[in-house]
Amino acid sequence: MDFSKDLICENLTAEEGVLYFAGQNTAALAQKYGTPLYLMDEDRIRQQARVYHDTLQECFGEKGHALYASKACSFKRMYAIMAEEGLGVDVVSAGEIATAYKAGFPMENAYFHSSNKTDADVAYAMDCGVGTFVVDHPEELTAINAVAGEKGVVQPVMLRITPGIDCHTYEAVNTGKVDSKFGSAIVTGDASRITAQALSLPNVKLCGFHCHIGSQVFDSSVYIATVDVMVDFLKDMLDTHGYAAEKLDIGGGYGVRYIACEPTIDIAASIREVAAYMKKKVAAVGIEMPHVYMEPGRSIVADAGLTLYTVGAVKKIEGYKNYVSVDGGMTDNPRFALYGAPYTVLPATRLGADRDMTADVVGRCCESGDIIQPDVALPGDMTRGELLAVLTTGAYHYSMASNYNRIPRPPVVMLRDGESYVAVRRETLEDILALDE
Ligand code: LLP
Repeated sequence: MDFSKDLICENLTAEEGVLYFAGQNTAALAQKYGTPLYLMDEDRIRQQARVYHDTLQECFGEKGHALYASKACSFKRMYAIMAEEGLGVDVVSAGEIATAYKAGFPMENAYFHSSNKTDADVAYAMDCGVGTFVVDHPEELTAINAVAGEKGVVQPVMLRITPGIDCHTYEAVNTGKVDSKFGSAIVTGDASRITAQALSLPNVKLCGFHCHIGSQVFDSSVYIATVDVMVDFLKDMLDTHGYAAEKLDIGGGYGVRYIACEPTIDIAASIREVAAYMKKKVAAVGIEMPHVYMEPGRSIVADAGLTLYTVGAVKKIEGYKNYVSVDGGMTDNPRFALYGAPYTVLPATRLGADRDMTADVVGRCCESGDIIQPDVALPGDMTRGELLAVLTTGAYHYSMASNYNRIPRPPVVMLRDGESYVAVRRETLEDILALDE
């Protein structure tokens, strides 16, 4: 059969029916490292990081900055790659901060988000030298000012603003609306009030504003609407408080292609469109161009990832349903269980075979919701021991993996220049037991 439409990313190829990822034979990688296995294409990560970094610099010169939203995929090697590519990072917890710090990331380029930082988080982030805190709400600002005062420092902060934009993606990641748990809304007056508060505190230095309207966004008009609202807000803060924002972060969220019928997006072209609008808007309201930040996660790492599984049970319930069980599941990919997210699943060593069976590809957790993907077309004679590949698994997979059912997490193996290396080793049963007294 013709499987060319299944090769939905540029880093996928085939030889004699075997799937190659980043130019490497997936069956050989499964043999070498075992399954389940997260593979990541380092060249693709770098390529995507450069698209953001280079395009923002092309559009805004030294005022254009890309931050990697490391919640999408966080381990030491990722921070080292981002540092090499000249990106800053968005970190959201002490764990992400510790990982970046240990990786030798220049922490002055780290931006600490999170909608509820504890006093301990705040102190730890300051001790690690995190450059900027992105503050979610007034109590947090008070806490940061107090901790900074105790330490005798002045902490640079940005304020997270809720612009009130509905990005038309699924609700669970739709964060820019007024009723969001994140940030201070403009329309309620909260955004102006928290700005005044920040300006009045001695141990914080206000550097500007941040917003994030949601994830898996394909349409640059959403960012244009965001810029429209945020630049008006900057002007309002200048008029109301005499405060000229130095930085504006318009968030992350460009979408990626999980299945063939989804679009691919020309990120550079889209950024240029948004930048052109921003320049016009800034000139129209008559403020100085701020430093402009974007903080993508998914679109930097998603299609740089692929997961390999070994098939176990193939269960055909005559007249009802077929199941193909794999040696991973919702513990390494919770995204169908959580969001009903679509995926492309391929028989990695038999791409050309007739796919005459429809089956749910399921995991090995004791839970019926443990589904990687329903209704997948697979060869009817699929048997135990065969290899399945799930595409586009670089974002929100390793970072959302769990030990439910005390299942160890897979390793992350990086592919680079025809070679492979372990970035995160496979968890062992000893790791699973390590915390138990
Ligand atoms: N900045 C902020 C403040 C964010 O909250 C996020 C994502 C990003 C940037 C990066 O967005 P991205 O470029 O990755 O779309 N677990 C969900 C996604 C949650 C996104 C949370 N925030 C999923 O698996 O789809």
